[in-house]
Amino acid sequence: MTSTLSPDTPAARSCLAVVLAAGEGTRMKSEKPKVLHHVANRSLLGHVLATLTEAGATQVAVVIGPDREDVEKEALARLPEARIFVQRERLGTGHAVLSAREALSDRLDDVIVAYADTPLVTVETFAKLRAPLAEGAAVVVMAFEARDPTGYGRLVMAGDQLLAIREHKDASEAERAITLCNGGLMAIRGDVALSLLERIGNHNAKGEYYLTDIVEIAREAGHRTAVAVVPEEEVHGVNDRAQLAAAERMIQERLRQAAMTAGVTLVAPETVFLSHDTRLGQDVIVEPNVVFGPGVTVEPGAVIHSFSHLEKTRIASGAEIGPFARLRPGAVIGPKAKVGNFVELKNTELGVGAKVNHLTYLGDTRVGAATNIGAGTITCNYDGYSKYKTEIGEGAFIGSNSSLVAPLTIGDGAFVGSSSVITEDVPSDALALGRSRQVVKEGWAAEFRAKAKAAKGK
Ligand code: UD1
Ligand code: CA
Repeated sequence: MTSTLSPDTPAARSCLAVVLAAGEGTRMKSEKPKVLHHVANRSLLGHVLATLTEAGATQVAVVIGPDREDVEKEALARLPEARIFVQRERLGTGHAVLSAREALSDRLDDVIVAYADTPLVTVETFAKLRAPLAEGAAVVVMAFEARDPTGYGRLVMAGDQLLAIREHKDASEAERAITLCNGGLMAIRGDVALSLLERIGNHNAKGEYYLTDIVEIAREAGHRTAVAVVPEEEVHGVNDRAQLAAAERMIQERLRQAAMTAGVTLVAPETVFLSHDTRLGQDVIVEPNVVFGPGVTVEPGAVIHSFSHLEKTRIASGAEIGPFARLRPGAVIGPKAKVGNFVELKNTELGVGAKVNHLTYLGDTRVGAATNIGAGTITCNYDGYSKYKTEIGEGAFIGSNSSLVAPLTIGDGAFVGSSSVITEDVPSDALALGRSRQVVKEGWAAEFRAKAKAAKGK
């Protein structure tokens, strides 16, 4: 068959991705649909949508089950331009794809079918699936060598030609011996996709409309079909919590590898947990047992010591965090600043070289450059109803064990005596004491002991 397509590159071709997200997920034993469960702090659906976008999908259709506003909401939050289609009845993968008929009839150059519960497929794999379409193939199937092919559709090949996909339940003994299997993803040429999909019937062991029948249908119509072989890892689907944990493990492994390749030292990579969006600069050092929640950026050369937990935080070059630090949303750590052990910061900015070294909570606070916050300092930023701000200037010194009752402003170069409760603003270069004056009674202890001994008769 000769191709009527222009010999353009896959990247220049328009592409509709149809994402099947109507999974039941009963084996998850969850109130939540399975595609909303997270790995690396992003939903399975979110991962697939991000990969498809990066892979050059120009349009994305998400097929969801009936009454699944939660899935729709997540899809639109991750990709506002996604089009949502509802599969009213679960009649099989072929039927699910056809639920997006309206999008398919736009006849973009390529159609990709992806599963929302299969989050490990890479951008490169989508490119590999699409490439043969540009050379005229009508259907390309993502294939893998299965260690255990039970349950998967078997790929019936003649040389490098794909003849058919036989579902496990419909396969003969000989076909069941085949280990090259269908990973589920498929690329279909957009000009023929709708007409091929519409010819799929449901005469099989499950009585379902099998997407996989499109291979034989395409061949009968004289089209060429192909496979793109990928590592088994990418095919990994999530149906239960153990598979969810396995997906997490594999994604963490990839994120750690990418960080190390980019010049980050992970002293014990297997103990560091990253988020899909963690950004670590060159020469950042991360000690063992650090957890990066979503939204963390660490600039080059900063050090994160052991057992620290960070989320929605920005850390500048040369800063040092931890051990045992907790940086909550809105923590912004300036260059060369230090945050030590058992320190919690929320919505708090530290200026250049500021130090908060021990046992401290700062919330809704701005700390100027080179200011030292003593051990045990607490900002009292919340009265049970509202939050209040604390502003501390540059070069100030807050004595240990002080309570700073917000709203409060402490000027540049000011001193706060230790154990103070500060309720009023402190001007620049002043000393503030908010504690009772010390009383010393000469000889009191000796007198006390003498009396006490006499009373006990010793
Ligand atoms: C499918 C393939 C099989 C392949 C395997 C890889 C078919 C017929 N079979 O089998 O060749 O080896 O995936 O994992 O395609 N879905 C819907 N609506 C439906 C049915 C399914 O949205 O009516 C979604 C599911 O939520 C899931 C995906 O499509 O995300 C695959 O469906 P599933 O029933 O799990 O197919 P398998 O039997 O695993
Ligand atoms: Ca499946």
